Parts: sequence; C-alpha cells; structure tokens
Amino acid sequence: MEKKDVNIILIGAQGSGKGTQAAKLSAALGVCHIASGDLFRKALQEQTASGLRAKVFLDRGELVPDELTVAMVLERLAQPDCLSGILLDGFPRTIAQAQVLDSNLQQMRKRIDRAVYLDVPHDELLRRLSGRWICRAHQHVYNSLTRPPKVSGVCDIDGSELYQRSDDKGEAVQKRLDIFFNETFRLLDYYRKQQKLVTVNGNQSIDQVYADILQVLTSTPTIKVGKEILTWQLPVPPSRLPSQSA
Ligand code: AP5
Repeated sequence: MEKKDVNIILIGAQGSGKGTQAAKLSAALGVCHIASGDLFRKALQEQTASGLRAKVFLDRGELVPDELTVAMVLERLAQPDCLSGILLDGFPRTIAQAQVLDSNLQQMRKRIDRAVYLDVPHDELLRRLSGRWICRAHQHVYNSLTRPPKVSGVCDIDGSELYQRSDDKGEAVQKRLDIFFNETFRLLDYYRKQQKLVTVNGNQSIDQVYADILQVLTSTPTIKVGKEILTWQLPVPPSRLPSQSA
C-alpha cells in the first residue's frame, strides 16, 4: 500500500532533542510539527480551560491525564496543515495514547510510518536540561552550554525574551525522567512489534543527529507489516532535502 504523506513519531527522554530535531525536520519535510508540551504551554499562556487543568501536572513534572492530552492532540491533527504529514513530538507517551492514536489515524485512512527513538545517556540528558532556554514567543530552543543565543537572554529569531522552564528545575526534572524510563519507554516495544521502530544515536551534534534521522527516513521508505509491504513518499523528494552529510 503506497501513500503520499509521511507520519513520524519522535520518542526520547526529556532533553534528548525531540523538539530541536522536530523543528528542523518539519521545515525540511513540509510536515506539521505537533508537540504536546508546546500545545499545553500555549493553552496555559492563553488561560484556556485545558491549559489551566494541565498546569498542576506540568508544574509537578507529571503526565497530564490521557483524555485531556488525546483530545488536544487529535484536535490539532485534524487541521488542514496536517494533510501532507505529521511529526509528533512528545505524543504518545503511554500505550493507551498510542492505541487511541492508531485507531483515529485508521479512521482517517492514515497510519504511523516510523517511530524514531533518540537514544541519549542519562548524564547528558541532565546536562542539556540544566542549560536549556526557551523563547517566550515561539518556543525556539537554545542551550547556554551547547547552543547559546547571539545575545544572552534574547531569541536570535524573533527577539523575544528567553526563559528557563519551571519543570527543568528541581525535583520535576528527575520525576520526568523517571516517568519516561518507567512508562513511556514501553512504547519502544509497542512500535517494535509493529516493525516501525528505529533507534538513532542522539548523543552526537545536532546536525549529525538530524542527518542520521533523514538517512533513516529516506533510505528505507518502506516497512513490512505481516505479509503487507507498506511504503510512503516524503512530501519533499530526497534530492531536494538539505545535505545529509553533517
Ligand atoms: P514536553 O514539552 O514534551 O517536554 P519533555 O518531554 O519533558 O521534553 P523536552 O522538551 O524536555 O525535551 P526535548 O527532547 O524536546 O529536548 P530539546 O530539543 O528541547 O512536555 C512537558 C510536559 O507536558 C510533560 O512533563 C507533561 O506534563 C506534559 N505532556 C506533554 N506531552 C504529554 C503526553 N503525551 N502525555 C501526558 N502529558 C504530556 O533539547 C533539550 C536541550 O538540549 C536544549 O537546550 C537543546 O538546545 C539541547 N540539545 C538538543 N539536542 C542536542 C544535541 N544533539 N547536542 C547538544 N545539545 C542538544
């Protein structure tokens, strides 16, 4: 079965670089970037009912309940800019979320094509989170250690103020990592059983990780599920993608 969109999930612990890579990949591939954490932070900024309900979980570094998370992501997924493909960052995080996603995509005659796991050692995750800064206007991501802005405290792209997330500090960081390794990690098996999982070494430069992900998506645009061969086309032909040699 061949189709002309591509639907990708980025899985990784907090600080593994999902948001950083998703921004580059969605721009290059012309697919819609859906980051559940960004959707919650935006809802909170706008003081919506969902944002206010989610706040207590965000502050504690805990998962927001499935029904609230799923409703928010599915609403975003149904928007027209998602037709050529989606890049999910931070969703799903539980098996229940993955199952609801699969059944909703099936109803839309879509499916997940690849789940890319960004593998990064624990010490490196903590190092990255402690140096992360985010821009208030559009959530552009910086790092005081590895990717500093040109002017301290100011976003290079839109000039807005940079801030440190409250859940990147104190007990919330360790709690988020524990939840990932105890709960979200089980998704690797879920997508492995569907033959969709690929692992990329996330402990390399941002450009090299990006190159490796593109390599995985372009070199094997096909998977075998049971007796069926599933193929997909990237919205942008591989020849028009940025150079993959970092
Ligand atoms: P969310 O916003 O998704 O946060 P997260 O999962 O905690 O992921 P992070 O944003 O911390 O990490 P990242 O992998 O995107 O790393 P980044 O690219 O920024 O979720 C926040 C909260 O929302 C959750 O705690 C939960 O409450 C709720 N939530 C969200 N989704 C949910 C769901 N599905 N179900 C229930 N609740 C949900 O990179 C990190 C830093 O490292 C940056 O400074 C970056 O510059 C740097 N960096 C990146 N790559 C590299 C590299 N290769 N080398 C060196 N530095 C690098």
